[in-house]
Amino acid sequence: MCGIVGAVAQRDVAEILVEGLRRLEYRGYDSAGVAVIQNGELSRTRRLGKVQELSSALDEAPLAGGTGIAHTRWATHGEPSERNAHPHVSEGDIAVVHNGIIENHNKLREKLKGLGYVFASDTDTEVICHLVHHELKTADNLLTAVQATVKQLEGAYGTVVIDRRDSERMVVARSGSPLVIGFGLGENFVASDQLALLPVTRSFAFLEEGDVAEVTRREVNIYDVNCNPVKREVKESEVTHDAGDKGEYRHYMLKEIYEQPTAIAHTLEGRIAGGKVLDSAFGENAAEFLKDIKHVQIIACGTSYHAGMAARYWLEDWAGVSCNVEIASEFRYRKSHLFPNSLLVTISQSGETADTLAALRLAKDMGYKATLTICNSAGSSLVRESDMAYMMKAGAEIGVASTKAFTVQLAGLLMLTTAIGRHNGMSEEMQAAITQSLQSMPAKVEQALGLDDAIAELAEDFADKHHALFLGRGDQYPIAMEGALKLKEISYIHAEAYASGELKHGPLALIDADMPVIVVAPNNELLEKLKSNVEEVRARGGLMYVFADKDAEFESDDTMKVIPVPHCDEFMAPLIYTIPLQLLSYHVALIKGTDVDQPRNLAKSVTVE
Ligand code: M6R
Repeated sequence: MCGIVGAVAQRDVAEILVEGLRRLEYRGYDSAGVAVIQNGELSRTRRLGKVQELSSALDEAPLAGGTGIAHTRWATHGEPSERNAHPHVSEGDIAVVHNGIIENHNKLREKLKGLGYVFASDTDTEVICHLVHHELKTADNLLTAVQATVKQLEGAYGTVVIDRRDSERMVVARSGSPLVIGFGLGENFVASDQLALLPVTRSFAFLEEGDVAEVTRREVNIYDVNCNPVKREVKESEVTHDAGDKGEYRHYMLKEIYEQPTAIAHTLEGRIAGGKVLDSAFGENAAEFLKDIKHVQIIACGTSYHAGMAARYWLEDWAGVSCNVEIASEFRYRKSHLFPNSLLVTISQSGETADTLAALRLAKDMGYKATLTICNSAGSSLVRESDMAYMMKAGAEIGVASTKAFTVQLAGLLMLTTAIGRHNGMSEEMQAAITQSLQSMPAKVEQALGLDDAIAELAEDFADKHHALFLGRGDQYPIAMEGALKLKEISYIHAEAYASGELKHGPLALIDADMPVIVVAPNNELLEKLKSNVEEVRARGGLMYVFADKDAEFESDDTMKVIPVPHCDEFMAPLIYTIPLQLLSYHVALIKGTDVDQPRNLAKSVTVE
């Protein structure tokens, strides 16, 4: 979704800002813009389309100036167009970039029109810049004007404001949309994600909800929601992956699929000893929080939700606790009941998904015994607001389609299963079997990646298909759901997943030669049941692609292509069967010629409701 970069420096900042936007491209956007203060005047360039369009425009007509802001916009209010692109400007004096949604923008718009302001866009954001302009007529300075403005805003914002008459300052405000301050030498920065600023600094402070900060070249002064001065901890960034580097790979998604053995090895590092998962994997005091847990409520969205769905089978089967899993946007608007000794687990790659964050806040008010987040982004809102955090350490994931984050989430959830299980009587043998499985995962994933060429060939069959059905049973059902989500989001093929026992309750009616059916079939206790479901499809003329264990005894014929998956134990099977499905969606998308890393209409980090 939208991205923000801002800078106050002695040198010209336009290039730094555009490079920052490039590093945020993965989030998904439709237009980009930059504004700098140049000799006491605001200069602005905006373009519909990619950051490259903006960059070319700036090559032709460069902008000079040491204070500036930039933005990539993902349309919410008003179509994607140059006039709706940020920064927005009021009376040639104030420029603003904004992430989030101002819910009372209509009311504010009417008020501002009444005061004589003329609107140049259809965005909710434009009310912010006119409001700041208006407040500055009576406020002492830009800081107090922004503080007075944000008091009038309802909704979510991460916003940065500059004033051409006060050219060495930017004021930034956060409520519901993340912002991070980057500290340089004699220059300071702001961004919606630290990745944007890695070329210029590694020292960051994350703003808290309600913070407003005044940033100059030499100083950063932060004020809390009550306008009291506060200090926010400055930390050195541990982000090691360079978002700008695809290496030898054609797409980030492919790179991230291939990074999975390393990402899984990283997530295990230092967290298993003596056949046990260490409680400290979940943060300080985790042992205290985990010890009496009898129920787990998992909340997440999209791919992260699928990881939670798989974990439910494990927590109930192996850890002996009950577990519910719910999509965050449903949980937050539903009256749910709290079970005694409940742990709330949020799962999120970005740590900033608006619905998941809102669900966490709601759950805290409900009185859960503890909250844990399984998250890939250090310093993110979910990490800061949860009692415990399992840091995934998967490295930056740039492709909009989540791949390595999913498998690392599965590994983390399997660790959580043993940690909770231990406090609920899981045997030492069982713990040792699970930890052994975890430790052999990187090598097994490597083997599964060896299917790449065979899958690339198979993908040809999908070139003219418009629909696909994915089938699985037990903890492979969520894997089928994840396979379907991957295929639809990057190849735009309509795909559905079913627990295969449900086939005869409706979806069988869809089966014909134009509906490929993808089946995940490890050799587990549900295999014979699954085989019956496969026969139901075969009898109706369906064409199947079966990813099967070599001992599962499927054979290719006219109605079925069997792709043998490396043999693996039950603990790692969901993770291993994910790999061929990721590769399948990638190769189908290549054939379809879609934008693999930034599929249409989607954003990497969904920071609005
Ligand atoms: O950052 P999160 O894990 O909270 O994001 C949740 C979903 O938006 C995300 O998994 C989405 O479904 C991906 N595009 C799937 O590939």
